[in-house]
Amino acid sequence: MSQKVQISFTKFGTPKAAVVAVLAAVGPAVGENARQCDPAGALTRAFGIAEFTGKLASDVDVLAPEGASHDRLLAIGVGKPTELGADALMKVGGALAAKTGRSADVALVAEIADFDLEPGQVADLALGFLLRSYAFDRYKTKKNDADDKKPEPKTRKLTIHCSNPTAARKAWQRAEAVGQGVALARDLVNEPANILGPLEFTAKARELEQLGVKVEILTEKEMKKLGMGALLGVAQGSARPPRMVIMQWNGGKPKDKPVAFVGKGVVFDSGGISIKPAGGMEDMKGDMGGAAAVTGLMHALAARKAKANVVGIIGLVENMVDGNAQRPGDIVTSMSGQTIEVLNTDAEGRLVLADALWYCRDRFDPRFMVNLATLTGAILIALGNQHAGLFSNNDELATRLSEAGVSTAERVWRMPLSPDYDRLIDSKNADMKNIGGRHAGSITAAQFLQRFVKDTPWAHLDVAGTAMGSPSNEYNQSWGSGWGVRLLDRLVADHYES
Ligand code: BES
Ligand code: MN
Ligand code: ZN
Repeated sequence: MSQKVQISFTKFGTPKAAVVAVLAAVGPAVGENARQCDPAGALTRAFGIAEFTGKLASDVDVLAPEGASHDRLLAIGVGKPTELGADALMKVGGALAAKTGRSADVALVAEIADFDLEPGQVADLALGFLLRSYAFDRYKTKKNDADDKKPEPKTRKLTIHCSNPTAARKAWQRAEAVGQGVALARDLVNEPANILGPLEFTAKARELEQLGVKVEILTEKEMKKLGMGALLGVAQGSARPPRMVIMQWNGGKPKDKPVAFVGKGVVFDSGGISIKPAGGMEDMKGDMGGAAAVTGLMHALAARKAKANVVGIIGLVENMVDGNAQRPGDIVTSMSGQTIEVLNTDAEGRLVLADALWYCRDRFDPRFMVNLATLTGAILIALGNQHAGLFSNNDELATRLSEAGVSTAERVWRMPLSPDYDRLIDSKNADMKNIGGRHAGSITAAQFLQRFVKDTPWAHLDVAGTAMGSPSNEYNQSWGSGWGVRLLDRLVADHYES
C-alpha cells in the first residue's frame, strides 16, 4: 500500500511547504545552500552545534521560528559532490523521505554549492524518495499502535526546486517508470503464497497489457503438449496448476532480434518430498523473486517506452508435498528432449528454468537470455546479500552486467563455469541429475542451466541472497527488495536501445 507520492519540479525560488529541505556537501561550503532559506541562520547555527559535516545521508533538522513560512528546515548531507553516483543520490532522497514521513508537503532545494546537479541526478533524488516511501503494510489493519503520534499521511507531495525543471521532469518520467517496476517486484515478493499462487501471479502480469505489453499464458495442457516435463514434474504436487507467462514489449525496430529475460517463479518452495526444515521455511514465499524482477522490469521498460524489443518469460509453479508429488529418483523428460534424474525434489528451480530457457531460445532466438533465480542457498554462503552470483557463457554480456551493477549498486560477482564442474551432474540413469555433490552447489546449478541454452549468449543471476532479506538501506526497507529491475533496465538502456 505504501504512501502515495506526488513529485513535481519547479524553478528555484522561495519554497513554500511545511518542510523545506536543502542539501549540504562535505567541504568548506557546508552551510552555503542553507543560508538562502535560512535568513535567521538557525540551521547554520545548528550545523555547528550538531557537528554536522555534510556526510552522505546525515541530517540536521530545526523547527522554524515564529513568522517563518515553513514549520521545519532540514539539511541532508550529500557527502563529496564528486562522488555523487546514482546510489548516493538515491540514498539522499531516501533519507529525506525517512526524515519527513509524517509531512504531507515537502520542498527540496536541489542545489549544492559550487556543483551543478544534472536533470538525471535530480531524478535519482526523487527515485530514492519514492522507493523509501514503499511499505508492505496491506495486511496491517491497525497502524502505528504503539505510537502516540498521528498516523502518516496517505499521500505526500514533494516539490523539487531545481535549475531546469523541464529537463528534470523528463528524466523523472523515466525514473518513475523504473520506480514503479521496483515497487511491483517488491509487492510480488512480499505477498504471501496463499494470496499469490501461479494464477494470481498471472493476473498481475496480465495487467501489463495496459502499458502495451503483449501477454500470453500457457496452461498446463499447453505445456504438456510442448513436452515441458521438467517444469510439470515440479508442479504436480501442488493443488494449484502451473502457468508460463510470455510478455513481449516491442519498442524497437520490427526486424531487431529481441533480448530476453527469464525468471524462476516458484510461488512457494516447501522442498517437495525432499522437504525443507521448518525454521525459516516462510521465506520460501519469495522463491519467485526472479519472476518478480522480470515482471517489474517489463513494467519499467513499457512504462518508459524503451526503444527495444524485449521478451520476458516466467515459469510459475508451487513445489509442494503431496500424494501426487514427484519423488526422488523420478526421471523426467524436458522440452529439450534431455532426460533428468530428480535426486532431490528441492532442487526444483533449475527444473522450471530448464524448460523456460529452452522454450525462450526455441521460439525467439534472442540476442541474449538473462535468467534470474533464487536458485541456491550456496550463493548466500559464497556472496552473502551483497552481490548476486553471475554465471555466463559470454564475456561481453558478463562485463555489461557487471558495469550496470556498479552504476546501479545492484552488484553482481562473476563465478566460474567449466566442463570440470559440468561432469558433476552427469547421471548413471539419465542424461543428467538435478544435484551435484556437496561442493560448489551454485556452480553445478548453473552448469545444469547451461545445458538448456546451447550457444545463445546467456547469463544466469543467482539472486537467492539479494531478492529478499537483504540489509535495508536509505531507499529500501522492504524484505522483498525488487532487486534486478534497476540493474536490467540499465543494461537495456546502455546497450540495447535503438
Ligand atoms: N529456493 C531454494 C534456494 C534458496 C535458499 C533461495 C535460500 C533463497 C534462500 C532452492 O530451490 C533450493 O532449495 N536449493 C537447494 C538446492 C540443493 C537441494 C541442491 C539448496 O540451496 O539447498
Ligand atoms: Mn528448493
Ligand atoms: Zn526453490
